Amino acid sequence: MINKGIVLSGGHGTRMSPLTKSVNKQLLPIYDKPIIYYSLSILMMAKIKDILIIVNKGQTKTYKKLLPNGKNLGIKIKYKEQPYPKGLPDAFILGKKFIGKNNVALILGDNFFYGNSLKRKLKNSNQLKNGAEIFLHKVKNPHLFGVAKTNSKNQILGIKEKPKKRYSNLAITGLYFFDSKVVELSKKLKPSTRGELEITDLLKMYLNKKELYATSTGKGTHWFDAGSIDDYYKTNKFVLSIQKKNKKKVACLEEIALKNKWISKKHINASIKFYGNCEYSKYLKKLI
Ligand code: DAU
Repeated sequence: MINKGIVLSGGHGTRMSPLTKSVNKQLLPIYDKPIIYYSLSILMMAKIKDILIIVNKGQTKTYKKLLPNGKNLGIKIKYKEQPYPKGLPDAFILGKKFIGKNNVALILGDNFFYGNSLKRKLKNSNQLKNGAEIFLHKVKNPHLFGVAKTNSKNQILGIKEKPKKRYSNLAITGLYFFDSKVVELSKKLKPSTRGELEITDLLKMYLNKKELYATSTGKGTHWFDAGSIDDYYKTNKFVLSIQKKNKKKVACLEEIALKNKWISKKHINASIKFYGNCEYSKYLKKLI
């Protein structure tokens, strides 16, 4: 079972400027919580307790105000700063010590997932022993993402990063499960023509060894890359409507931790004190 997970939470956020000129993208709100709550919640739903959050240079202090050490959530949170956005696989080079000889999951800090079958799928992926596993989601605008072509048995035939010509409508979402080889393989990568280490080049190494597996998010699952203005607002609207309809919060980290039996009433009370008098605390009070 994978117990280590990385949230990649740096980046320039260029597409969302001026919103991101002085605030890191993943700290912007999606309705009533910072974006990073949603990505972190996915790792917690996958039962991952040992978390490394990678942030931009100089941002650890800001992040720690929101997510100090994970104690109130029954998890361990560590931070690592990325000197500049070198590309997604840099997460594994920076995370070398954290990963050690373990398998590891990676989620991009701006990715949003919601769906009924998600929990079961995450549980399955967390059993990964060898190779790498990606989550594919059918989209109408594949040119904006990494994409994968699959056959009828859901085996991956090829992958491309942001293809100009139509190649497949299956986007590679920002959630990945890797075996421990990922660190050494990432070190072998060379920057692409846009000057970044590409996650798709890393995935190709696994594909060439026939060790790349695909899970489809499935019909009932919603996925947004909240890193573009349009999708950012779509995600906000989505969370607002789902929460109103279900009278339950999406990505309430304390609720997930409580369900996982990682924390008790005492921790929830500590969280209420931490957040102060707000809607979120009122919701937490109802959990105990
Ligand atoms: O969202 C899924 C897509 O994410 C995948 O389909 C693509 O294959 C993958 O390359 C990636 O594409 P993006 O263009 O959306 O990646 P972006 O540069 O926006 O980075 C994603 C997140 O990772 C964002 O929250 C910022 C953070 N980041 C990015 C880079 C390159 C870092 O923290 N450090 C980095 O070096």
